[in-house]
Amino acid sequence: MEDTHLQETDFGYRTVSEEEKAGLVKGVFTNVSSKYDIMNDTMSFGVHRVWKDALVDWMSPLDNTACLDLAGGTGDIAKRILKRNNKIDLHVVDLTPDMIFEGRNKLTKDIPHKAISWIVGDGLQLPFQDNQFDYCTIGFGLRNFRNYSNALKEIYRVLKIGGRLLVLEFSKVSNSGLRQLYDSYSFNVIPELGGLIAKDKDSYQYLVESIRRFPTQEHLKALMRETGYENIRYRNLSFGVVAIHSGWKV
Ligand SMILES: C[S@@+](CC[C@H](N)C(=O)[O-])C[C@H]1O[C@@H](n2cnc3c(N)ncnc32)[C@H](O)[C@@H]1O
Repeated sequence: MEDTHLQETDFGYRTVSEEEKAGLVKGVFTNVSSKYDIMNDTMSFGVHRVWKDALVDWMSPLDNTACLDLAGGTGDIAKRILKRNNKIDLHVVDLTPDMIFEGRNKLTKDIPHKAISWIVGDGLQLPFQDNQFDYCTIGFGLRNFRNYSNALKEIYRVLKIGGRLLVLEFSKVSNSGLRQLYDSYSFNVIPELGGLIAKDKDSYQYLVESIRRFPTQEHLKALMRETGYENIRYRNLSFGVVAIHSGWKV
């Protein structure tokens, strides 16, 4: 008999098949692509810029290395990596063509002298050989993947021995008073802003729900360890609203 069992996963607070999640996520980012940057500035009061700077500070990319910015979207992290060190071979991969389109346009204006390779592709089936990259960064991307462990394994495959993964992602605020305030802002304000600015309340409802479903700092650390990474450390930013995890392929 044919095996019709499909793996299930979260899409916000809904349970869907992994295949369905990929389509829904692509739909979200296709809808919001042209307003994605302005929404980030508005809903985080510009603080997402500080978080992305912190990622690249901790990364401190060395000269003549190869870097994959996975789920690179509109290129905010790619731009920071190149501003920090332009002697980097940089590849941006993202599932959603419209996000890549926005990113390429933006960075061509900002950093015209530097070619980046922009690739529409799935982070679960990267179009690269084993052991190719010194770094992989992934900012606010992993949460949108349909299978976190498989994504971590696929990244591990394309990293060189001695290569490093840095994950910037929403995480868990430990202080319960602050968490209540943050939850209230997230659920009451962010979807409304999404409706007003991006004309898409549902996508921003998905955002706030997906954050609550994403693994905590310790859980993500454990997932990274299970998938082979070593020397795993994380740093909380803004009281744990986001965290940066760093792990190595040794
Ligand atoms: C919230 S955006 C993050 C963009 C950018 N890294 C930033 O920090 O602004 C998440 C991105 O993940 C991408 N994405 C989701 N699932 C993916 C997958 N399986 N493979 C590659 N990219 C994926 C989406 O298309 C979207 O552009």
